[in-house]
Amino acid sequence: MDQDSRIIVALDCDSRTAFDDTVDRLGDECRFYKVGLELLTAVGPDVVTSLVARGKEVFLDLKLFEIPNSVAGAVRAAGARGVSMVTVHGMGGRGIMSAAVDAARDFPDLRILALTVVTSMTDDDLADIGISDSAEQQVLRLARLADKAGCHGVIASPQDVAALRDALGADALIVTPGVTLPGDSPSEHARPGTPRAALTAGASHVVVGRTVTRATDPAAAFRLVRDTLAV
Ligand code: C5P
Repeated sequence: MDQDSRIIVALDCDSRTAFDDTVDRLGDECRFYKVGLELLTAVGPDVVTSLVARGKEVFLDLKLFEIPNSVAGAVRAAGARGVSMVTVHGMGGRGIMSAAVDAARDFPDLRILALTVVTSMTDDDLADIGISDSAEQQVLRLARLADKAGCHGVIASPQDVAALRDALGADALIVTPGVTLPGDSPSEHARPGTPRAALTAGASHVVVGRTVTRATDPAAAFRLVRDTLAV
């Protein structure tokens, strides 16, 4: 894998104009984009088709948590659009994750990633929903369950990466959002880290959003992220 493909830019915008503008301005710099619920709902799945037509890889962050039949249908629809990664909630349990994995078998390039604990959640947030384990313990439990269900990898915060790499072995994908560059405002990330720290700890990919997309010059910001990985 070349270095650029390890950086996934999150296109969290709400209009076709903003989408086109960001993708145009990033041009050849960025090869891998994350499409999430905001863009999908505001503009529609044509954005995925457009990205694939431009030769980009797409991580469709659907965060699926539904009955297995509906999860499978959504995964097949994503595969048919040429998506490379789809997310499913680990908290939905083994049945939901297995349904996603089974549905992806018809699409050899499609990877199913389990969301463990979103990076904004703290131990107190988990306690509020009846989970007495720490976020770290819950991440590991759900990651092992995802592995047993056949998921190709997990989404995890920078600080959980090293333990996950130990638990899941060398082949698992570990995709890490919640990364910011030194000097960025902390935003709502409860457990942030730098892209370089995440990759050094064992992440296979990092997801960078506003650090790039809200920069005055997104291509320059992307290069800055890439350069921090080259050191
Ligand atoms: O904060 P940033 O703009 O880099 O976020 C990029 C992506 O990272 C978002 O689309 C979101 O899915 C994910 N994220 C996350 N937890 C947060 C903040 C963002 O998983 N606390």
